[in-house]
Amino acid sequence: MDRIVFHHDTVLSDIHLLLPNTQHLMARLNRVGQPVFTTKFKILWKGEATDTCERVSASEKEEDDVGSVHEEEEEKEEEEEEEAAASGEADEEEAEDEPDLDDDGDLKVSRRPKAGLSEGSRRAEVFPIILRQSSAVQEDASDDEEDDRDQPDIIRIEHTMATSLQDVGKQVWRGAFLLADYIYSHASVFRNATVLELGAGTGLTSIIMATTAKMVYSTDVGEDLLSMCQRNATLNRHLLAAEGELKVRQLDWLKDDLCTEEDEEFSWTEDEVADLYDNTSVIIAADVCYDDDLTDGFFRTVYRLCNSMTKPCTIYLSLEKRMNFTLRHMDVSCDAYDYFRHCLRQLEALGDGPHRFHVEPLATSFPQCLQYERIEHLELWKVTSTPTVEPQRGGKYPPTPTQPSRPDPT
Ligand SMILES: C[S@@+](CC[C@H](N)C(=O)[O-])C[C@H]1O[C@@H](n2cnc3c(N)ncnc32)[C@H](O)[C@@H]1O
Repeated sequence: MDRIVFHHDTVLSDIHLLLPNTQHLMARLNRVGQPVFTTKFKILWKGEATDTCERVSASEKEEDDVGSVHEEEEEKEEEEEEEAAASGEADEEEAEDEPDLDDDGDLKVSRRPKAGLSEGSRRAEVFPIILRQSSAVQEDASDDEEDDRDQPDIIRIEHTMATSLQDVGKQVWRGAFLLADYIYSHASVFRNATVLELGAGTGLTSIIMATTAKMVYSTDVGEDLLSMCQRNATLNRHLLAAEGELKVRQLDWLKDDLCTEEDEEFSWTEDEVADLYDNTSVIIAADVCYDDDLTDGFFRTVYRLCNSMTKPCTIYLSLEKRMNFTLRHMDVSCDAYDYFRHCLRQLEALGDGPHRFHVEPLATSFPQCLQYERIEHLELWKVTSTPTVEPQRGGKYPPTPTQPSRPDPT
């Protein structure tokens, strides 16, 4: 239990891989016995005067990436490293007259081993320490709130690490940060809006959205994940806009109906369903297109939801264009991304529904307000959905006249 074991189907978000410390604190075990970690992400700046929000340089980001629960240990490590470097310099000075040469007369340079890397491994090992073991989701939320009440520049997120593909929502992904940056730097666009997030995962982007929006429906699937999202919403309640509200709800892209069963956790009330269809003007989704079947379900859901909405709706989609070597191509390709682009084209081409869709890429030159590595493969897309006829109303998705279909592989 003290080591994370990487299986062939394990995925680890770069966000967690790049945590600066070799030791992370494991806060607790979740309901299904997975180790849950807490990370405090620094909010560098929030507001709309984009020219005052300085973008973090690549070198700064490397030195001081995401904030961690173990800042004191980091400082200690840095001090030790500085001392080691200083003594190394002194040794070098002493040995200046006699350079260490190999048999051919070449200078031998020995590298200091990097702390935390085990032999034969380039990945820092993680040693979780159990602080407390609990299955009660709300148990200590009040203590945590107390700790963070005066920290408006910290978003505190509980997450797991190194999950199977099925559980990727329990990690935080770079797309969530890119979208959060966009929200912070265009806060006036979202002020007082009713917003739906699809595939919200840990809820980071929903929480950032709720710092400016009036109502955020943060949706995903799976009780564990939704509980984690709810807990994060509670931990960061102090960041929400004065009149802002964040509700965690089930919304499965592979189902046609919103869950309104009263005895189901995270189900929708009839009033919430009506509010969703009457008032939503923005849909957001971060890093949700990584599997073609799910991408199909996602686009079908967007299409159905928009066609049920009274208002025009703007959809913001962030994603990372992931390049993989595949045996099928015997080359590096980005199949999931290509399929996403195909679905965008199809959505725009659907001309016979109650809404018309327009797709455009957004420049990602807006300021960076959270600390993460904004790599060039991060993209943001904007889709506008405009009603052409009176929308069909009700808690059920209306039938889809034409649904996106898979591209012909030839
Ligand atoms: C890569 S994660 C992204 C999570 C979060 N948006 C982020 O960027 O950190 C993809 C998300 O899609 C969600 N998802 C997968 N299948 C889904 C489905 N059928 N219905 C709704 N959400 C789904 C996952 O649970 C997960 O939270």
